[in-house]
Amino acid sequence: MSLPPFFDDYLHFLRFASVSTDDRYREHVHACAAWLSGYLQKAGLKSEIHATPGHPIVTAHSPRHPAKPTVLIYGHYDVQPADPLDLWLHPPFEPHVENGKIYARGSTDNKGQIFSHICGVRQLFESGGQLPVNVVFLVEGEEEVGSDHLAPFLEAHREQLQCDVVVISDTGMIAPGVPTFTYGLRGIAAMEIFLQGPSKDLHSGIFGGAVANPLTELCRLAATLHGPDGKIAVEGFYDGILPLQDWERGAWKTCGMDDAELKRITGAPELQGEAGYTSLERTWARPTCELNGLTGGYQGQGTKTVLPSQASAKLTFRLVPGQEPARILDLVETHLRGRCPPSITLRVERGHSGGAYYVDPHGPYGQAAQDALRAVFPGKEPVLIREGGSIPIVADFKKILGVDTLLLGLALPDAGIHSSNECFPVEHLELGMRLNRALLGALAVPRNG
Ligand code: BES
Ligand code: MN
Repeated sequence: MSLPPFFDDYLHFLRFASVSTDDRYREHVHACAAWLSGYLQKAGLKSEIHATPGHPIVTAHSPRHPAKPTVLIYGHYDVQPADPLDLWLHPPFEPHVENGKIYARGSTDNKGQIFSHICGVRQLFESGGQLPVNVVFLVEGEEEVGSDHLAPFLEAHREQLQCDVVVISDTGMIAPGVPTFTYGLRGIAAMEIFLQGPSKDLHSGIFGGAVANPLTELCRLAATLHGPDGKIAVEGFYDGILPLQDWERGAWKTCGMDDAELKRITGAPELQGEAGYTSLERTWARPTCELNGLTGGYQGQGTKTVLPSQASAKLTFRLVPGQEPARILDLVETHLRGRCPPSITLRVERGHSGGAYYVDPHGPYGQAAQDALRAVFPGKEPVLIREGGSIPIVADFKKILGVDTLLLGLALPDAGIHSSNECFPVEHLELGMRLNRALLGALAVPRNG
């Protein structure tokens, strides 16, 4: 198999262990930002690195021609932790090529996808041509931890970031070879709760029965969040949600992803969720409440008869259009406080959040995106989907910069993002470059809207 252009540069990008959530990787994150900025410069753009209280933001732009529309291409160079490492067949930061795929943490999410856009632009410059539009790249290092410092950056740099539309490849394709346009994403709101019982760990025989066990109370509280029908039992949680439209419910039934495929990909023995909705509706257009981690008590080998003094849980809520993250966290906190017994002190810490996103796929920019997909996948009609994952800054692009976002993802359903053995098809790198060029061409044509 012939390797796509700039392949070695892509591998170089993947070797940075740019894990944003863990301080031990800070140097790697910064080194990755520095390399990326240099690479954007080499690609023909003017690039800058912007320090933030967290990880740096990298920007780059082409010369601005006032007559041309401006397209902002967003991506992230940070990655999720690779743990647990023993599940990887090859070290996650030493890219391994096998059967036409590159295996490495970040190969799909998001380094492969943002890199293909950078290379698409690089190719346009190198072919001596002018870009059909002005391009601004915005590549951040905190997407996987909620993009906390990006919204203030947008506020502070409105002018430099002013654009007509945002383009992102950080979502999925419904199946290999199927052109996919994502017109909606779920939002997210995170919270951590801490339950304190006795002032220190106790002998569970001497005190158990007379003193509440925070771990038990945590499980009890967590279990009140859902009803038996799979609905979230927090009062007001569903208020204001924009209902699914008939055309989307209809279209998703035939979009090529069914329950059997979902079971195959996930390995779950059976699917489960909110009553009254299909699996795709549940993941793409209905909110959820997930426990992401529980701590408390003894985790070591064997047994320990301890009555732990503390327990905690990490929670996230996926949100849909019509739900406001801060309000959802208010409702959940009220729910938990109202159910926490006096024997326990409850502390609630709010985490990152980002709103849900929805763009009319039939609007002028949506049409341009679909034209670009048709050009790259000749003879195939793009599939229109929403997705369950979140890209927290997308709602802010609309709120702060006033622009819509086009989501044209290149991730395959079995790419293993956030999981072990994450991979990206070698051919998707070039596919992404072609898509970039087709898209910039399609967006250069003025449209009524
Ligand atoms: N690329 C994903 C988001 C995604 C994945 C969208 C698949 C659609 C389909 C992104 O990098 C991501 O994982 N975001 C996090 C954000 C969170 C940590 C704030 C997510 O969704 O968990
Ligand atoms: Mn991700």
